[in-house]
Amino acid sequence: MTAQTDLLRFITCGSVDDGKSTLIGRLLHDSRQLLDDQLAALAADSRKQGTQGNDIDFALLVDGLDAEREQGITIDVAYRYFSSTARRFIVADCPGHVQYTRNMATGASTADLAVVLVDARKGLLTQTRRHSWIVRLFGIRQIVLAVNKMDLLGFDEDVFRQIEREYRALAQKLGIDTVHAIPLSALQGDNLIAPSANTPWYQGPSLLQVLDAAPSRVEEGADTGFRMPVQWVNRPDQNFRGYAGTLASGIAKPGDEIVVLPSGKRSRLARIVSADGDLPSARQGQAVTLTLDDEIDIGRGDLIAAADNRCETSDQFAAHLLWMDEAPLLPGRPYWLKIGSKTVSASITEIKHRIDVDNQAELATRELAINEVAVCNIALAEPIAFTPYDENRTLGGFILIDRQTHATVAAGTIDFALRRAANVHWHAASTSQQMRAASLGQTPRCIWFTGLSGSGKSTLANLLEQRLQALGKHAYILDGDNIRHGLNRDLGFTDADRVENIRRVAEVAKLMTDAGLIVLVSFISPFRAERRMARELFAPGEFIEIFVDTPLAVAEARDPKGLYTKARAGKIPNFTGIDSPYEPPEAPELHLHTGKNSPEELVELILQRFEL
Ligand code: ADX
Repeated sequence: MTAQTDLLRFITCGSVDDGKSTLIGRLLHDSRQLLDDQLAALAADSRKQGTQGNDIDFALLVDGLDAEREQGITIDVAYRYFSSTARRFIVADCPGHVQYTRNMATGASTADLAVVLVDARKGLLTQTRRHSWIVRLFGIRQIVLAVNKMDLLGFDEDVFRQIEREYRALAQKLGIDTVHAIPLSALQGDNLIAPSANTPWYQGPSLLQVLDAAPSRVEEGADTGFRMPVQWVNRPDQNFRGYAGTLASGIAKPGDEIVVLPSGKRSRLARIVSADGDLPSARQGQAVTLTLDDEIDIGRGDLIAAADNRCETSDQFAAHLLWMDEAPLLPGRPYWLKIGSKTVSASITEIKHRIDVDNQAELATRELAINEVAVCNIALAEPIAFTPYDENRTLGGFILIDRQTHATVAAGTIDFALRRAANVHWHAASTSQQMRAASLGQTPRCIWFTGLSGSGKSTLANLLEQRLQALGKHAYILDGDNIRHGLNRDLGFTDADRVENIRRVAEVAKLMTDAGLIVLVSFISPFRAERRMARELFAPGEFIEIFVDTPLAVAEARDPKGLYTKARAGKIPNFTGIDSPYEPPEAPELHLHTGKNSPEELVELILQRFEL
């Protein structure tokens, strides 16, 4: 692999008319063009790095979005390649339409620097603030403020200084360390490649001079211990068990003592194998295969780290989140979280606040819409090893994936682990569910009725409870209307509240099943994602989903509580089936068509089918 410091990746951001394409066009034209084959090699190299996760930073985000591109979801980050006499460049050109945050996250996450374009006639725009915020979120700390179209203002120094002052104030708020402000005319080439005679009052470097001298982020993490997420486990024969991946930080040498996270098992590095044979050492950014002195159980997604400088592990942390999906983020809903080469189930336990990127105001919110940024608490199904994003982009950057559509719905950056995760331990009781169930003489179950309001869920659940009682079984009903009077009385009927409603009742049902009971849950539970989340809390076979399928017209005609009439009159907003969706189960254990058989017959069917 070539030395990476001779390569600088940067991103250009700006609004539609401020001359971004002219600027990139001129840079490409005026700088020394790479020979065609060099260019092709660089492009192929960078693609390979991206897809194999060998890239220095957020390759996984690029990966995720690559996969989406294959599924026909468009992202348009154009990568262009050029070189100066000093180094090579990859520039990410992100267009600024609706999905711009998605594009910017992709471009920014692998960039060393951002060029923020401003039209000198317009000054700082909302877009300028947003773009700066997003590039900072994804770890960029050096910015070139390109104040363009200075020729149209007769190269007026006052205009330039005013914009520069405003921007430096913004940069300081955002924690951007380095700002190079340059008065430019992309069209005429002033201060682009060489200093311009039209700006005698400007003593600073040209844009290309700044780009030539800018430090790349390759050095980031060089002084922390070595850390490598395992991309895959190589086992061509029994004598060679290697762990392939790219070093996310530090330097590794044979003989180094290592720890595998999150398991905490220890060993020593035996060999560092590369395409060119064994290496005496490997450094951050290098793709290698490691072998260890001991046979220990290591899988894809584990982290191999220097034993004396280990990473934190946690299953709960605070993070910044950039939401990129048309459907809003709903706290409590499970998503896949992908970090490094590891994928785990995760949910947002709390949105602390949304950030208005125009003025940095912190706003309270229950949901997050597309292009919004928030500080959140996240809980994972299992602990992961990580580093705060500000210290290392590979080990602190993650994406969230929708479990149904597989779309990348958010990009996030880990701020810190929540201490509560380390201080709350599962208390193992000395009696088991099995023992409790045996003493009750039954097999615990969670029987989950889902369907529209008025579909007959509660009628069936009530009859079933009576029958179970008569059979000497111990059953209990959790009914939406009742639980909403107590435990869930703080919840309404927005999507976010319904998600939380189901999360809580599923947890209660889980506890009751653990106590050995047969639990009958009667909730509309309109969303597939939450029914699936409920299902995953239980052992295989323990959760029985029964779809009480009554057409809307029939439920509405019955209207036992008069709610449909009110909803149609506009008196109940977000009513399921009217102006709030119901997602029918795709593979329920039982699909009941009410109306054909009597409730009594249906209940007998349930008893027999599931041997209750
Ligand atoms: S769920 O969607 O969150 O699962 P849940 O089963 O708890 O709903 O509560 C549904 C019951 O609340 C309905 O049977 C009905 O009596 C009442 N209700 C009041 N407002 C609404 C509404 N907007 N949508 C649906 N049900 C409502």
